[in-house]
Amino acid sequence: MLSEFPLFPDQASTLAAEVDHLYFFLCLVTLFFSTLIAGLLLFFAIRFRRRSEVELPQPVTGSAALETLWTVIPSLILVVIFFWSAKIYFSISRPPSDAMPIYVVGKQWMWKLQHLEGQREINELHIPINRAVRLIMSSEDVIHSFYVPAFRVKQDVLPGRYSTLWFKATRPGEYHLFCAEYCGTKHSGMIGKVVVMEPADFQNWLSGGSREESMQARGERLFQNYSCVNCHRSDGKGRGPALEGIFGKPVRLQTGQTIIADENYLRESILNPGLKVVQGYQPLMPMFQGLINEEGLAQILAYLKSLSPQVLEAADANTTKAPARPNERQNQKP
Ligand code: CUA
Repeated sequence: MLSEFPLFPDQASTLAAEVDHLYFFLCLVTLFFSTLIAGLLLFFAIRFRRRSEVELPQPVTGSAALETLWTVIPSLILVVIFFWSAKIYFSISRPPSDAMPIYVVGKQWMWKLQHLEGQREINELHIPINRAVRLIMSSEDVIHSFYVPAFRVKQDVLPGRYSTLWFKATRPGEYHLFCAEYCGTKHSGMIGKVVVMEPADFQNWLSGGSREESMQARGERLFQNYSCVNCHRSDGKGRGPALEGIFGKPVRLQTGQTIIADENYLRESILNPGLKVVQGYQPLMPMFQGLINEEGLAQILAYLKSLSPQVLEAADANTTKAPARPNERQNQKP
């Protein structure tokens, strides 16, 4: 009966139940105190009403015990809420290290999704059940927000940088995907669905359709077409630093500052390389701002990550069919 009158979206991810429990707790606390306060208000209004025209009110002296009680009890409840939500927040913001990466581009007014294996989708995302999925998202124009109510996750998708979102689906089925940030005339039409499949079905889906080139392979081609390969030589003797093994590692900059070579740093260093130059190198690299689109950037990024073995392992674990493994560059590594 409840399913015909859905007050709540399905609980279809590992996070869903946790979020709901906290939400119900907040509702209960709110309900309890609203009832208590409104009830007391009514009770006192009647109990202490003015009974005759000449009656004078008694002066109120206050009670330290009562004041302490109604300060301490709500404070304790708030502390519980704080730690409880912090715990959930941490699990939402920390994807497991073996999460399967999927690249998402939001644009007015559609979602474009790209799997490492090369499959591309529009307004539809196919994922396997019981596998952590990590979305790496950016926008081609304005701010959008990726929202899957059944998974209880929502994250803004921004122009100019990557934001991420992860979840692990626990029930097969189709779930709504919304844009949850007003982004223009057809914002309400920027919707789609997430299809959660059994692992075998997902493998079939992945290998079905036209044979797509993997993101790494596309990225590697871009890397050559844009002549990146001429300076970023794998032997480290090029005019730019070698890019093997750097992903996720600290990099020392000219300024003496150290920075982690994550997705956002690599992104910035492709689009506007002069901002954070690696120590020991000249700022010779041209800007690629406006020359590479979001999807191309994601492909180059997928390629660069594949040059870092520790990342490649994670990517491999995701698929029975190993992504096209780039190549001799890795073998040349000393
Ligand atoms: Cu995109 Cu609203």
